[in-house]
Amino acid sequence: MNVTVHGRTEHNRTVAFDVSSNSVLLIEQRLLPHEFKIVATKNFRETARAITDMIVRGAGAIGATAAYGLAQGVRAFRGTSLAQFSDHTRQVYQTLKDARPTAVDPVNAMNGVLLEMARGETVAEQQALALAAAEEFAHDDVAHCEAIGRHGAKLIRNGMRVLTHCNAGWLAFVDIGTATAPLYAAQAAGKKFHVFCDETRPRSQGATLTAWELAQQKIPHHIIADNAAGHLMQRGEIDLVIVGSDRVLGRTGEVANKIGTYTKAVLARRHRIPFYVAIPLSTIDWNLKRGFDIPIEERHEHEVLGAWGINPRGQREYIRVANPTSPARNPGFDVTPAELITGIITPLGIFQPRDLWKHRVKLGYKR
Ligand code: MRU
Repeated sequence: MNVTVHGRTEHNRTVAFDVSSNSVLLIEQRLLPHEFKIVATKNFRETARAITDMIVRGAGAIGATAAYGLAQGVRAFRGTSLAQFSDHTRQVYQTLKDARPTAVDPVNAMNGVLLEMARGETVAEQQALALAAAEEFAHDDVAHCEAIGRHGAKLIRNGMRVLTHCNAGWLAFVDIGTATAPLYAAQAAGKKFHVFCDETRPRSQGATLTAWELAQQKIPHHIIADNAAGHLMQRGEIDLVIVGSDRVLGRTGEVANKIGTYTKAVLARRHRIPFYVAIPLSTIDWNLKRGFDIPIEERHEHEVLGAWGINPRGQREYIRVANPTSPARNPGFDVTPAELITGIITPLGIFQPRDLWKHRVKLGYKR
């Protein structure tokens, strides 16, 4: 998407790859919306750390980062022994897989890269195939988001008030985003609407990232406290909810997404407000049989006990808010059951959550 910083507008992708330096290029999302900066990770361990530390975050974006990180790692291998190369590849894969547990996109993205690499007969061939496959994943991510925009824009009518949670915008993907794609497509079609961004404590991805994206795109919006959505729904001030996801179970239609999503889905049902989830195909997990088995990331308690912001000197600073002697729990994600979801917006159209399995071949399921 286009980013305007200090009056200069340029197109940026959230994740890219520099072939000559074998580096992954990432927007440093922890600094947004206060500073726009691109950082380069020089090896696969740095790339994995960038995922863990949330320099890059969001399911599709960490999927592309893991795919590039795998290509980066295997390209750094020196030698011709296929056995040693395969050990090295396994180590790179595992390091990137372990970086964050809940989103399935990194695993799906890297499995796609491995599958392509298997076509090569030499180390050099496999290295080249790895990079081509990572580039293809990034390309598909953008194409999927564009298609989600086309399907999802039909849900948005003039005058609507749309609620979204966390950031499933272009910063959470390579470009465009999923929950935001219908908004951007509707705007391009000349529709007028208003967006409410849940603040999304504890890391405030809604207040910082989604709000920044919408402001960049000149889409009218308000940030609301996470607890305000029920009140606005009760007063008839929200017409539609669109969120993203980190993992959708293809067998059951259950949706893992940023903590607080489940609460919003319950509220939406209570008030008969349509609740949609927008995803690329890489977010579908065809293996797990129960939402309860989705690994839910438990993050550090300091995220709940305080907040990061920018001080008057322009430096990033953490402020303790909570009672100094109290501990906290910090589950990063929750799981919304299929029955609370009106539809899943995919690049191939909108599906009932429980119909994903019926359409699995079309949706990319491979035995
Ligand atoms: O912890 P994050 O910021 O990586 O969380 C992921 C998300 O951004 C959300 O859960 C989002 O709604 C789905 S990812 C496209």
